[in-house]
Amino acid sequence: MTVVPSASATAVRAASAQAHANIALIKYWGKRDKALNLPAVPSLSVTVAGLSSRTRIRFDPALAGDSLYFGGRPAAGGELDRVHAILDTMRALAGAEDLPARVDTDNDFPTAAGLASSASGFAALVVAADAALGLDLPAARLSALARAASGSAARSLFGGVVEMAAGTAADGSDATARPLLAAASWPLEIVIAITDSGPKAVGSTDGMDHTAATSPYYTAWLASAPADLERARDAVQTRDFDALARVSEASCLRMHASALAAEPGLIYWRPATLAAIECVRGLQAGGVPVFFTIDAGPQLKAICAPGHGDAVAAALADVPGVERTLVSGLGDGARVITEEDDA
Ligand code: PMV
Repeated sequence: MTVVPSASATAVRAASAQAHANIALIKYWGKRDKALNLPAVPSLSVTVAGLSSRTRIRFDPALAGDSLYFGGRPAAGGELDRVHAILDTMRALAGAEDLPARVDTDNDFPTAAGLASSASGFAALVVAADAALGLDLPAARLSALARAASGSAARSLFGGVVEMAAGTAADGSDATARPLLAAASWPLEIVIAITDSGPKAVGSTDGMDHTAATSPYYTAWLASAPADLERARDAVQTRDFDALARVSEASCLRMHASALAAEPGLIYWRPATLAAIECVRGLQAGGVPVFFTIDAGPQLKAICAPGHGDAVAAALADVPGVERTLVSGLGDGARVITEEDDA
């Protein structure tokens, strides 16, 4: 779809964008401001080439109001509210307050795979809306807009390895993501082991709130996160895989420890998740450069040094309870796409 910038609030304006999902190695878990959706801790992620969302937006004065479609099916409730809030901010910046929009999002990975798509979806949305409205905002500003909908979405604006600051400003202006290392500079490989393709038991926002409200380990989690981020950033900058492996597994297990200690405890893992951890530990003992991470769900993600993805995927595919595996390289940042890209 072509970008149709226009000074008139009555013209149709449309654009499409693509963004990739990301996987946090240093976890975001907890909010310092709920209303603005500001993270309590910094995070660091890798952008995943193999998981992407394409979002088309059409601002059209003839529409009755904002609407959102996932794979052609209308969405309502929380997701539509978040889209509406982002678009209101962007419409105000463009001086087009009353221009309704239709948003269509598709993922190139099966939604039934139990993988979160909100990060790639919201990142693609802000890029498409920016193009359609002719705003041309800097990437850091788009990252902050995406963050308002989903903390991890702020990271999907960028490719390769990405750092997200918690920031200290009350308005959240310094809680933005920035690229740390381009995808081509350290071609890590990612294996996703699907252990359960059902919907999440407790979503990340509810899980964070519950942990903050009831876990005695939450303050320890907050205290440990900044140092973990520093160690991970150093490891990325020096391409020190072993150091990155050590601190990433620690961050993941510390996040889950804080959630496990909530009341009632949040257990995101399935038996196969633990079996997959044991598989990764076995590979490590045999000298394979790989480490694991797990988000607020049962899938295990294995990060592999360049060239080791296929062997790790083969080992994980043999773990009882692993339904399927997916191998990917690091992806690029979110970008506007044309009709030809969209074909
Ligand atoms: O972006 P949210 O609100 O879905 O939260 C993401 C939380 C984790 O995936 C568990 C960790 C992370 O940093 O992505």
